[in-house]
Amino acid sequence: MQTAGDYVCTVLSSRQVLPGVFSVEFESPEISSVALPGQFVQVEPSPGVFPVTRRPVTINRLTESGFELLFDVVGRGTQLMARFLPGDMVRVMGPLGKGWDVDQDKTWLLIGGGLGAAGFQFLVDSVRSSGVIIGASGADRVIPVQAQTVHIVTEDGSRGSRGLVTALISEELLARADSIAVCGPVAMMEAVWNTIPEAHRSKVQVSTESRMGCGWGVCDGCSIPVSGGGYRKCCVEGPVFPGDTIDWKRWKEAGL
Ligand SMILES: Cc1cc2nc3c(=O)[nH]c(=O)nc-3n(C[C@H](O)[C@H](O)[C@H](O)COP(=O)(O)OP(=O)(O)OC[C@H]3O[C@@H](n4cnc5c(N)ncnc54)[C@H](O)[C@@H]3O)c2cc1C
Ligand code: FES
Repeated sequence: MQTAGDYVCTVLSSRQVLPGVFSVEFESPEISSVALPGQFVQVEPSPGVFPVTRRPVTINRLTESGFELLFDVVGRGTQLMARFLPGDMVRVMGPLGKGWDVDQDKTWLLIGGGLGAAGFQFLVDSVRSSGVIIGASGADRVIPVQAQTVHIVTEDGSRGSRGLVTALISEELLARADSIAVCGPVAMMEAVWNTIPEAHRSKVQVSTESRMGCGWGVCDGCSIPVSGGGYRKCCVEGPVFPGDTIDWKRWKEAGL
């Protein structure tokens, strides 16, 4: 039975992989031995008083003695995390949440937009994949994913083909997949959902994001609007949900 814990983890490496995007590797056999693809950790950016809450980041991949995170610097918390140095001791809680519903017999198509592809390596390393589609605004925002077949599309055409991820979604790719993983900004995920024909939608799982407080179900701060009314907690009932669970219209309007 998989359990989460709160650990003090040693930073093994920290480097900038793309402008403003950092890779930090932690030593933590406790977390990596029980983590599943799509789960996240809550990182304490600083042992000081601010920021008060931890920052949720998806486990991008497992390493020999722990795991790697890939994150974009967007505010105070991630600025502090970008300053982590090898040897630093950092409080990390995890693994948290419900990740991808992984079935070893299934073949996966992965579709990621921007930082949404951070976390895909763990899934690629755990399942059989027929292809990974990665979309970004430009070459300097393409998240690295090692897989047999990677299709890259950028809005400015600086790497791969020019356009949006939706342009690469074909009946052939959808038909070859038993499961489809989607992660990225809400508008991108909604566009992908709308592009996928009804016949393939039951295969779709989406990894959601929301502002989080606790990360483990007690603060009610991470609601995702679901079909038929109501909300689900991103941190414990997600972050991964079947695509048809999401009320796309309400989620987009909420601007979470
Ligand atoms: C389950 C989960 C997994 C995540 N995995 C990753 C990951 O692998 N890599 C990564 O780069 N980021 C990931 N994020 C987003 C990351 O947690 C936020 O970018 C981070 O918490 C921002 O902290 P900050 O203090 O730097 O920014 P803040 O000062 O808190 O905010 C700066 C700006 O970022 C926006 N922002 C903050 N948090 C979020 C959020 N959760 N969703 C959308 N916008 C937000 C704010 O509205 C504001 O405009 C994940 C979020 C969740 C919920
Ligand atoms: S973040 Fe507190 S309930 Fe989800």
